[in-house]
Amino acid sequence: MTSRDVRSVRDAVTAALRTIDTNLAEFGSLYPGDTTVERRYRLRPSELGAGANVGWTTSFWPGMIWLAHELTGDARYERQAAAHVAGFAERIHGRVDVETHDLGFLYTLSCVVPWSRTGDEVARGAALAAADHLLTRVLEPAGIIQAWGDLQDPAQRGRTIIDSLMNTPLLFWATRVTGDERYAGAARRHVLQLRDHIMRPDDTTFHTFYWDPATGAPLRGETEQGNADDSCWARGQAWGIYGFTLNHRHTGDPTLLAAARRCADRFLSHLPADEVAYWDLIFGDGSGEERDSSAAAIAVGGLHELAAALGEPSYADAADRILASLIAGYAAGDDSNALLLHGVYDKPKGVGVDEGNLWGDYFYLEALTRAARPGWTAPWLPGAAG
Ligand code: GLY
Repeated sequence: MTSRDVRSVRDAVTAALRTIDTNLAEFGSLYPGDTTVERRYRLRPSELGAGANVGWTTSFWPGMIWLAHELTGDARYERQAAAHVAGFAERIHGRVDVETHDLGFLYTLSCVVPWSRTGDEVARGAALAAADHLLTRVLEPAGIIQAWGDLQDPAQRGRTIIDSLMNTPLLFWATRVTGDERYAGAARRHVLQLRDHIMRPDDTTFHTFYWDPATGAPLRGETEQGNADDSCWARGQAWGIYGFTLNHRHTGDPTLLAAARRCADRFLSHLPADEVAYWDLIFGDGSGEERDSSAAAIAVGGLHELAAALGEPSYADAADRILASLIAGYAAGDDSNALLLHGVYDKPKGVGVDEGNLWGDYFYLEALTRAARPGWTAPWLPGAAG
């Protein structure tokens, strides 16, 4: 990075921390919604009360506070982030909205991180309970982890999604701390199935893929949040870069690193002039479609990990260019309480289109942390969390 880049990262970190401070005053130990509405997060709507711990994105809020602690060493952030453990423990032990594979996102950031920092046994127990619950979603004989909903729901039965590659690190962590190989074994089988079926021969990815729950046969790919079944949802491709790379780090399987490289090359070759992807990779400049800044932020982390795993700095250079573009053109100003604007949650359903979102904010702050703290290790990686 040039000295100009270093200055712009420092200014971006300062701006992000200011927003986190504002949000701590507003949300405290409650949760903002998945996305902003007209650029502002409000308390998460829920039948359990505004700001309740439901949905798949709540852990990105304590995840950001842990990053703020990492960046500043300020004990106030550590206290505020650790205060979320009790609610996450209640959620998993009380089985509140946990019928999802996203237990990996939820419990890595909210509980594995504090356990690794402070040895918090409540956090360890909650993360292990989440890993146990995730194992209940393994469908035999396919050996895949069902993504969403009730295991008997015919619309969801046998369905996986590419995002799940980010959830398997919780299972690898559980094996590491317990010595019980069931967790890592389930993660490995699931990831190999995705490698063989969710990736397409042209190196794009399906968002979702179905297996026959009775026979285990691979059935078909479909999209849920992309433009079409045969197009390539940009965030899914970014999850593929980061997720396959993480799973390679956990298993040492070179075929997973090769899959990550294929995802990355395809993603990078379909970027527009400013290197921030449109929400589906079939769109380019002049399409009139929206960018998904969150896909770009996720890709930055994945590309850095891929560069390190391959020993190829060109992927880190690409990540630095994307981050510079996010800082210059997509970081929020004082008119928003998001960190990053111009994300897309679900364009086909019209949800969170051209807004900030919690995972975009988290991965943007993760990207800034990598830039500000060379050698920093992400919580999803072996060694980072115990
Ligand atoms: N994991 C859900 C999404 O990326 O929208």
